[in-house]
Amino acid sequence: MPLDTLTITDNRTGQIYTLPIENGTIRAIDLRKIKTGHDDFGLMTYDPAFTNTASCRSAITYIDGDKGILRYRGYPIEVLAEHCTYLEVAYLLLFGELPTQSELKTWVFEITHHTMLHETTKKFMEGFRDFAHPMAMLVSTVAALSTVYPDAKNVHDPDTRLLQIKRLIGKMPSIAAMSYRHMVGFPYVYPDNDLTYTENFMNMLWKMVEPKYVANPVIARALDILFVLHADHEQNCSTNTMRAVGSAQADPYLATASAASALSGPLHGGANEEVLRMLDEIGSKNNVPAYIKKIKEGKGKLMGFGHRVYKNYDPRAKIIKWAADQVFEVTGRNARLEIALELERIALEDDYFVQRKLYPNVDFYSGIMYQAMGFKPEMFTVLFAIPRTVGWLTQWQEMIVDPEQKIARPRQIWIGHDTREFVPMEKRGKTEAVLQK
Ligand code: SDX
Repeated sequence: MPLDTLTITDNRTGQIYTLPIENGTIRAIDLRKIKTGHDDFGLMTYDPAFTNTASCRSAITYIDGDKGILRYRGYPIEVLAEHCTYLEVAYLLLFGELPTQSELKTWVFEITHHTMLHETTKKFMEGFRDFAHPMAMLVSTVAALSTVYPDAKNVHDPDTRLLQIKRLIGKMPSIAAMSYRHMVGFPYVYPDNDLTYTENFMNMLWKMVEPKYVANPVIARALDILFVLHADHEQNCSTNTMRAVGSAQADPYLATASAASALSGPLHGGANEEVLRMLDEIGSKNNVPAYIKKIKEGKGKLMGFGHRVYKNYDPRAKIIKWAADQVFEVTGRNARLEIALELERIALEDDYFVQRKLYPNVDFYSGIMYQAMGFKPEMFTVLFAIPRTVGWLTQWQEMIVDPEQKIARPRQIWIGHDTREFVPMEKRGKTEAVLQK
């Protein structure tokens, strides 16, 4: 019997099956051979939220949750955060190799010259109410770019794909900044091509009437490191969304808007905004034990803690904590940081969290840092979406060119009615609402 196989005995029939094991998986479709008779559909797997299902083969980002390892194209995140800019890492993710000096220069020039938005897009954004959430504005405006670039629907043309990818990477900071300026009622600031990617983002966010915006270099570098850390993260919820929507051959603008929609959820990218709310609810270091007690009674979750994959410290959280110290040198420490440090200290010692392997994740310190940099909480998830755009697009492209991939269409376990007789109107009684848990 070959070693890399799984032998299954179906006790319903006594039949024995041998399935090949490849890359630590069995192919779910191989289970369909296991039947009780000719008219049996065959076995499926049931895996709500895909907690134990590989949906693709990927060479982009590798995570080892138990060891707290995160690598982009084989390079440890710690090394990339220390030595690279975000655009350098974006190149690595997309093309699979670190760029040479001339490749990087060309890449930066191209992205820099895709930061402008069509003037009609500016008008589109002016239609939002003044209390519109910047994340909703970003999602809607990214989707609207599909109307500006109809050629994007040619998803199988590599040159067209690359052009849309450059446009999206270049325009995300512009859309994000315009969403912020709209929220606070300030005039939009156009991109300044003399500045780096993050300096230009700061320029479009915070330039007022000075002739030329000058970014604080510590803040700009800290933002660049945050962008590196958030660039990709394997098959997370929003990337899964990007791949699913892209598998129907929707254009990359609509797929990216869908992914950003998933990211906005408080259990995903929206957690950094919730962390700040949680810290404000706690109010002071002295209230931390009482808050922890509430969480342990099952009344809510510790936002910024826990992860589907990391059952050890999220390696990004450590780097963010280091970068936060650099920022606080400039901005001054605030009470929220003291509360967060106390929360982390107590939680890491408490059995409830230790047993559940709950450690600070990427969102735990990023929110405090963004707030110290001067960002409003509503902008935190927008700050996550900007760098993750290259991750979504890299995963999308890997799916498009993967010969094994096709339109995503999972199956279900039927728990509803068998066939029923039609009930004419006069014979219908009051509907007992289907119980919604
Ligand atoms: C991101 O996937 C990614 O890679 C995402 C991300 C990325 O870069 O794309 O890393 C970014 O989304 C980080 C996660 C940000 N979200 C939060 O910080 C929100 C709070 N965390 C959780 O809601 C939760 O930890 C998840 C959603 C992150 C993970 O949830 P899982 O894997 O579904 O785990 P689970 O809910 O099954 O939890 C297992 C147990 C449960 O307790 P029991 O029912 O067994 O008693 O742990 C508990 C949970 O109640 N638990 C928590 C908790 N997270 C899980 N209890 C208190 N506080 C928490 N934060």
